[in-house]
Amino acid sequence: MCGIVGYIGEGDAVSILIESLKKLEYRGYDSAGLALLDDEGKPQVFKSEGEISQLESILPKLSSCVGIGHTRWATHGKPSTVNAHPHVSGSICVVHNGIIENYQELKEALESEGFIFVSDTDTEVLAHLINKYHTEHPGDLAGALKSALEVVRGSYALAVLSEEHPHELVAARKDSPLIIGLGENENFIASDIPAILKYTNRVIYVDNLEMVTVKKTSVQVFDLEGNPKTKEEHIIQWDLEAAEKAGYPHFMLKEIHEQTSSIHETLAGRLQELEGDVTFEELGLDKEQIRKLQRIEIIACGTSYNAGLVGKYLFEGQTGIHTDVDNGSEFRYSNPVLAPSTLVIAITQSGETADTLAAVREAASYGCKTLAITNVVGSTMSREASNTIYTRAGPEIGVAATKSFISQLVVLYLLAIHFARVCSMMDADRVRKLLSELRKIPGHVDRILMDKERIQKCAARFSASKDYFFIGRNINYPIALEGALKLKEISYIHAEGYAAGELKHGPLALLSKDVPVVAIAPQGHTYDKILSNIREVKSREASVIAIADSDDNEISKYVDVVIPIPKTDVILSPLLTTVVVQLLAYYTALERDCSIDKPRNLAKSVTVE
Ligand code: F6R
Repeated sequence: MCGIVGYIGEGDAVSILIESLKKLEYRGYDSAGLALLDDEGKPQVFKSEGEISQLESILPKLSSCVGIGHTRWATHGKPSTVNAHPHVSGSICVVHNGIIENYQELKEALESEGFIFVSDTDTEVLAHLINKYHTEHPGDLAGALKSALEVVRGSYALAVLSEEHPHELVAARKDSPLIIGLGENENFIASDIPAILKYTNRVIYVDNLEMVTVKKTSVQVFDLEGNPKTKEEHIIQWDLEAAEKAGYPHFMLKEIHEQTSSIHETLAGRLQELEGDVTFEELGLDKEQIRKLQRIEIIACGTSYNAGLVGKYLFEGQTGIHTDVDNGSEFRYSNPVLAPSTLVIAITQSGETADTLAAVREAASYGCKTLAITNVVGSTMSREASNTIYTRAGPEIGVAATKSFISQLVVLYLLAIHFARVCSMMDADRVRKLLSELRKIPGHVDRILMDKERIQKCAARFSASKDYFFIGRNINYPIALEGALKLKEISYIHAEGYAAGELKHGPLALLSKDVPVVAIAPQGHTYDKILSNIREVKSREASVIAIADSDDNEISKYVDVVIPIPKTDVILSPLLTTVVVQLLAYYTALERDCSIDKPRNLAKSVTVE
């Protein structure tokens, strides 16, 4: 996730773009840059590593009325000045949010034509492509952009500035957000509304596969064939604070909603449907090394540990590779039994958790290869692990991990599928079916989000409870743990996550009519078992909230509330049941008037032991 902005008008482009970028820092803040045309129409590009304030500190006094800007959250290439946007080719400057999936093949083709690449980013291919087509058809910036977009695969919201076209900016969108702000003798381009709200509340939403030519006094929207489109102007009524949360009352709710796009980002460029496989540029393990793996050891803390448990079910169930999951804090003092044939996977959203880092250092001292799964490019974990896979969920502001967890799960699914394919435990057809189901997950998540009032009502009904139980079986057992963790973390209700079959070994003694039990029960090979567990719970008069498949007509006979989820392959169901438990925790905390984004006693990044 990155933020892009553009300005053309009569105002001071430098201060407007900087102000706008600051409002997008929530989308990323590891480096930033501006491209401007000065009073003489000469392009000036400034970039810097770090936050926008750092970029601001290196800007000279400059008079300009047109420019583009970018705040970055690295996905391809580490945070550095050279990788910061704008990227430049000839007279073309580009800022981009998204991922160009086929950048490697485009890069090789462009290099063979003599284009020289200076960064590690996927975006640089866009700059060279637009330059190439613009050179072939000078005078038509929008046409050059259109030709470039015909050959790229992936997602983008981008803006282009050229010294040969000082009176226009062009922009385009596919699967990454983009809006146009309308002013008097000035217009704006941005990834999100907060960026422009100080200057105007008149907005056009750019839709997928649309391009825009933005001039000082006009805005024209086209489809990618170049046909003009009529767009509605919207008046934004939010104040700035609400706008930073995109109108949501809390970052947590915003981030729960962002999961539809973060899943897309995590998948981008990694699915090979034709071959029936998955590819990770960053894996650092060839097929032979994967086949020789005897064991996987997953190390993580908190929510990331719960993701690791889903990983255990996936690796053991799909690849047959024995997998253990340990808390960083326990592992580091446990005299672990490790051999070089063990792959150690460290899962950490922040990449800075002290216990996980120490545990990985311990594992590395046994000669094991270490693979990090993290959300933060350049984090300590990404620098210390042998290899790193990025989850690409974008910055998460709410202390409670939500979208970063879903993205960790998606990476684990992809890894398990790849390992299973390499170890001949899954054939290409099965992989293709799973990948096609995975592609549907963002749409399914969207349907759960549209039904959130049902979850809100359920949360309100049980919000005065002092204790809660979450039960699940098999691959949804970790989601029971995650549901309980989310609830206690933000609503301060005592909650326990249990393997449903374990209730009878002790916790049943705690159940009564005042203790709600959330039963995660999609249909699968343990469905009948969890129905029996639900009956055990009901006979202790506890209320049961079931999370069940939408076509399950049976379960409502035994429970008090049913929260339906769209039908998917049961092994993918944690990607949907998670969203329900997140919303249940959120609305319970809301009902209890808790500090949702900053729960008491907790921090986003735990850098102490
Ligand atoms: C819970 C939560 C924490 C973190 C844990 C590990 O919502 O966010 O439990 O999951 O502190 O953090 P990372 O993943 O950054 O290592």
